[in-house]
Amino acid sequence: MERDIVDLLREDHTRMDGLLTELDRVGSPHRREQAVSELVAALGRHLDAEEALLEPVVRKLLPSLMAELLREHADLKHLLTRLDYLDYMARFFGSFELTLGLLEEMVRNHIEEAEETIFPRVLRDVPATRRYQLGAQFVRFSATTLMSA
Ligand SMILES: [Fe+2]
Repeated sequence: MERDIVDLLREDHTRMDGLLTELDRVGSPHRREQAVSELVAALGRHLDAEEALLEPVVRKLLPSLMAELLREHADLKHLLTRLDYLDYMARFFGSFELTLGLLEEMVRNHIEEAEETIFPRVLRDVPATRRYQLGAQFVRFSATTLMSA
């Protein structure tokens, strides 16, 4: 079934938002660790898909936003890599929690900006047929990155 890329990206955002909320609440270190690795994987795939499929659209519709968007994506990826490699000692010294806190703030900003600025413009200015085409590419893209993960 074909779907609108905006709906698919919104679902991703909701899922990541849920993982962040869970991270704020859960006490069990094991479940926390699971939620962190789920978030790292989901966000990594999400950013790759957005870079490949959404950025070319935004570049045309909202060129003034592009520089900020690219910088935010680069910062997020940098933090993801750090979280991925921070070892037990880093956690012990607290830098893991700091990095996670920063990531949380940035992901929430990312979601807010998309929902308030980017998606409304995409929905207004990109024809539905094109959005559904991009949605199909997004589904294929996610399947490929899942397999190679
Ligand atoms: Fe996003």
